[in-house]
Order: sequence, then structure tokens, then C-alpha cells
Amino acid sequence: MSSEKYRIKSLSEYQKAYQESVENPEQFWSKIAEEFVWHKKWDKVLDWNFSEPKIEWFSGGKLNITENCLDRWVKTQPNKPAIIWEPNDPKEAHITLTYKELHHKVNQFAQVLLNNGAKKGDRICIYMPMVPELVIAVLACARIGAIHSVVFGGFSAHSLTDRINDAQCTLVVTADGAYRGSKEIPLKDIMDEALLTSPSVKKVIVLARTQMSIPLVDGRDVRWEDEIARVEAQGNPFVTPASMDAEDMLFILYTSGSTGKPKGVVHTCGGYMIWTNYTFVNVFQPTPESIHFCTADIGWITGHSYIVYGPLSAGATSVLFEGIPTYPYAGRFWEIVEKHKISILYTAPTAIRSLMAHGLEPLEGKNLDTLKVLGTVGEPINKEAWHWYNDNVGKGKCPVVDTWWQTETAGILISNLAGVTPSKPTYATLPLPGVQPILLDEYGQEILENNVNGNLCIKAPWPGILRTTYGDHDRCKLNYFSTFKDLYFTGDGCFRDDHGQYRITGRVDDVLNVSGHRIGTAEIENAINMHFGVVESAVVGYPHDIKGQGIYAFVIYNGTEQEMEIVLAAILHTVTKVIGAIAKPDKIQLVSGLPKTRSGKIMRRILRKVAEGELDNIGDITTLLDPNIVEEIKIGRL
Ligand code: PRX
Repeated sequence: MSSEKYRIKSLSEYQKAYQESVENPEQFWSKIAEEFVWHKKWDKVLDWNFSEPKIEWFSGGKLNITENCLDRWVKTQPNKPAIIWEPNDPKEAHITLTYKELHHKVNQFAQVLLNNGAKKGDRICIYMPMVPELVIAVLACARIGAIHSVVFGGFSAHSLTDRINDAQCTLVVTADGAYRGSKEIPLKDIMDEALLTSPSVKKVIVLARTQMSIPLVDGRDVRWEDEIARVEAQGNPFVTPASMDAEDMLFILYTSGSTGKPKGVVHTCGGYMIWTNYTFVNVFQPTPESIHFCTADIGWITGHSYIVYGPLSAGATSVLFEGIPTYPYAGRFWEIVEKHKISILYTAPTAIRSLMAHGLEPLEGKNLDTLKVLGTVGEPINKEAWHWYNDNVGKGKCPVVDTWWQTETAGILISNLAGVTPSKPTYATLPLPGVQPILLDEYGQEILENNVNGNLCIKAPWPGILRTTYGDHDRCKLNYFSTFKDLYFTGDGCFRDDHGQYRITGRVDDVLNVSGHRIGTAEIENAINMHFGVVESAVVGYPHDIKGQGIYAFVIYNGTEQEMEIVLAAILHTVTKVIGAIAKPDKIQLVSGLPKTRSGKIMRRILRKVAEGELDNIGDITTLLDPNIVEEIKIGRL
């Protein structure tokens, strides 16, 4: 494994590595980078300032990430499983692809991309189910130096078209449909609708997954299987990996912020590879025999970093699951653990809470003895869920790593290292080497003491930090590097205990975290406001037992009493059409006005209190334009 030589094995080694990474980052990271395959060594390890921001790691170095994820393992361990795919329906056979087989398929599809006009630097949108071909498509893009932009299969045509247009994608890879639990999602239909308003796309490659009938547009759409057959007929291709600069873009991944428009977070080839590899090896402490199961979707950063690039760059075996934890029964995860002898299970608190709700019966009779490490990601984990996971899944013998990070950070920034540094329930604990967290108060002053809450910022770049937001560098600066001078602002609130351990408390901006999915309140409001008859809306989060946060919408609607039922259903439909089902409000309260200051700003603090049910603790409302509206909203609370 690449970072293997520098793997941290004890608390004192962690302390030593951390100290070196802070005191001498260039020396620290260059020796780790030397363990990877490069075409040409870098000229400079690090060049940065946060004021532009400009961040360059290993610039001048040339590499291709797929050689690090595939070719080198084909030489040393060709028959080791790289990917094990578990289908949505347990009656369908699983598929194992060895490193040699995955390498072959990635080369084939890289040739298909080239045959269809793709070239280095092109943006390619991937909108697919969780099947092996998704991993193949991602790696094939990286092989030829095309920039992938994977869009989660739950997003609507409207969201898809926005993302395709923002990146000016010229090619898309999709499938006829996707299975997700008992549902069949018509991906190609959704893509066709998106492409009505995405003129940059010239080619569509469609995989057959559900065999649902789909129309093909002549001259634009081709079938994955036909294209592969064409390549096979030409003999087995070896596609020479594009020689990429370490700072060339590897991918764009859209994520929500506090404005209505998702941002295209950009990660580059060298730093991203090293960060995902280093964090995978150190946080999860895999052995050569480990079977790693990350339950995320590749449409999100967790899937990019800890299903695809982290494990494969470390030569590990990565399990890919097409379905959902509760289909066709609530014991599906445990069945997968038993069947594939999973050693590392990495999932989200929301999944743990939903499985907890089914009790212990689904776990009965399942052999979970192969488990060595448990991980969580995506949202703060509550005590009950942490203990349930630790006691009933890990049987008290598996370290639980609570990994805090973000789309923008590429990989884990704060987490205990499994079995190496101590865990503390609900705490992400300590920063990885290279990560310098600091807490600031609301005035931007650094908080030096412990036992405090603050805004979490990071002082200096680590190799995986985002470089820009696609097509709009100013936006990157404004969003992440302007709130606090010369610091990367995470948007998260955080508590630091007496021992300097960090506990993430949740977002301090207008971003919600619903079932581990990040959604901007402004995005949901924009969608609701598109509905005819809606005058204005305000969306806030509230604590939800399973989802972590639920979505509560206050909507001013200009219509009659009789229409109300229909209106509520229609608003839900509009949100699903504009964003996707993940953004559907759990509660919609129709109101005649919103609490606004005299300058017209909505006082969300008040709405949050109402949504949380803290009706006696609303706070000062004297500065409102119309304080009476608060009483009406309180009475109408759902
Ligand atoms: O609020 C934090 C929360 O998820 C946000 C990042 O979301 P996203 O970019 O979609 O990436 C999710 C997967 C890395 C963060 O700003 N978050 C993530 N991990 C944790 C967390 N909150 C608490 N504890 C965590 N372990």
C-alpha cells in the first residue's frame, strides 16, 4: 500500500508524525508522495496563500491516478479482488472484479470514450446506478485525463441540467434505469429531459441495467455494450494513461452551500490521490486481507474517496452495494457483512439510526466476527447510535472511527485512527497529520482555551483541500476563505474538550444535513418559490430521530382555503422536480407572513425555534416589522 511505509502504528507515532507535518510539511508530504508512481517528479512540494486562494501541491509533477489505482497492483497482485459488487436484489449474483479484470475493463471503456470523441480536459457527466460500470466509467475518465462530474442518481432533470451546463460537459454516461430498494428509477428518461436544455452534450453512452425500454437519439446516443463489443473486435486495448500535471483537475463534484446554486468543487490529481490514500490507510488501518465496505453512493464525495480512489490506490478490496440497508429486509447490511466477510464497515449515522429502529432481531444469527473496524461519516452521531453500533455491531471489540470531513476536503480531516489513537463517543477526536484546526469566536478571534464552542477553521493547506469552484474562483474565495482572514472556514460549529479533542456540532450556516445529504435551505426555497401561488418561503432544519435533521418549510401562499391540500402535495411535487426527492420538506406550514426585520431580512432564528418546538424560548422579537406574525406561526406549528 502506498502510504504503508509511513503508516502510523501507535499514539506516539501519531504525535511524532503530526508534529513533523506541521513543522515541516514539505518534507513530510514529499517522502509520502515518493511512494506513488510518477512520470516525472514535482518541482515544488507546496505553494500557497489563502488570500487568493492559490494552493498547489507537487506542481510540475506528472502522473496518472489510474496507474496508482490499477496498473501497479496488476503487477503485484493481479488476482486480488479490487471490487466486489453486491446487487440491490440479493437473489441476483454478486460480481467480483480482480485488479487485472478491473484494469482490463477500465482500458476498454477508456477506449470507448476516445472512440466517442472524448479527450483530455473534457468534462464528462456520469449519472449512473451503483454498479461496477460506474467505477469503470470514473476510472476510464481519469485514465484519458477527462474530468468526471458524477451526479447522484437521486437528483432531478433540473438539477442534472444545471450541473451539466455549469461544467459544459460534452459527453454523458448513464444507464437505462436504476434499482434502489423496491423502486426503479428511469435514469435515461431523466437524462433525456435534462439534455433538452444542455446543448453542450454531443454524445450519450447508455448502459443497460434494468432492461427498461428507452429511446435512443440517432447520432447522439450509443449503447455501452455495443461500444465495448466494437473495442473487443479491435483486440484488447491498452490505453496509455494520460500524463497529468499534479495540479490538473481530476474531477468536479457539485455540493450545496448557503446560496441557491450548488458549487462545483474541484479536486486535482496529485494532492487528492495522496490525501485519500493516506487517510484511508491511517484511519481504517487495513491489512492486506481486509475487505472494506463503504455504504455511501459514488454520487457523493464519500463514495469517490472511500469506495474508489482511497481503497484502490492502496490495493485494497472495496465492496460496492447497489441497494439500501432495509431492502428487502432490515438485515441486509449484516447479511452482506457475513457473505463477503467484511472487515471494515463505513456508514452514516442516519443508516445506523434507521437500523436501530428495527431492533436487534435482524442481527440475530448473523456472523459479524470478521469485522475489525467500524466507521461513521456525514453528520454528528448521537450517543445512543454510537453505543448501539459499538455494542451490537462491533460487539465492543471494533474501534469506531468518527470521521469528520467535507466534499471540499477530499478526505478525512479529523478522526481517531482505528486501534491507534483513542476514541470518544460522539467525538471526531484529533486532526490527521497536516490538519491544523482552530476555533474562532463570532468576532473572528481565535479561541485558545479548551472546553469551548467555536467556528471551525483550518490554518494551512493539506494535500486534498479544494483548489477552486469550477468556473468561478471568486465564489471559492468568498465561500471558504473570506469569512475569517487567511483561514479555510468549514461552515461547521465545533466543541473542543479539555484534552483538545474535537466534537463537531453541526453547520453554522444555512446548510442542512438530511440523512447525511447536504442541502442548502436557499436551494429548497428557490424550488418552493417556483410553485405558482407561492409568494415567499423560508426553510429551516429541526432535529429528526432518523434523518438527523428534518426539513421544515414556512410558506406564504396566495390562494383559497379549499385549495390547501392540493397545494401542499403540489409543493412537494415541485421540490422533487426541481431538486430531487431528498429535498422534500417533512413539514410545510402555510403562513400569512414571515418574521422579518425592518430591513426585510427573515429572522430564521425564530423559525428554527418554532420548528424545534421551543415555543417559550423564542427570544427577542421587538425588532421585527410585525411581531404579531410570530404568534400566528406558533399557533399553526405542525
Ligand atoms: O457538517 C459536517 C457534516 O457533513 C458536512 C459535509 O458534508 P458533505 O460535503 O456532503 O460531506 C459528507 C461526507 C464527508 C460537514 O460540514 N459531517 C461530515 N462528517 C461528520 C459531520 N458532522 C459531524 N461528524 C462527522 N463525522
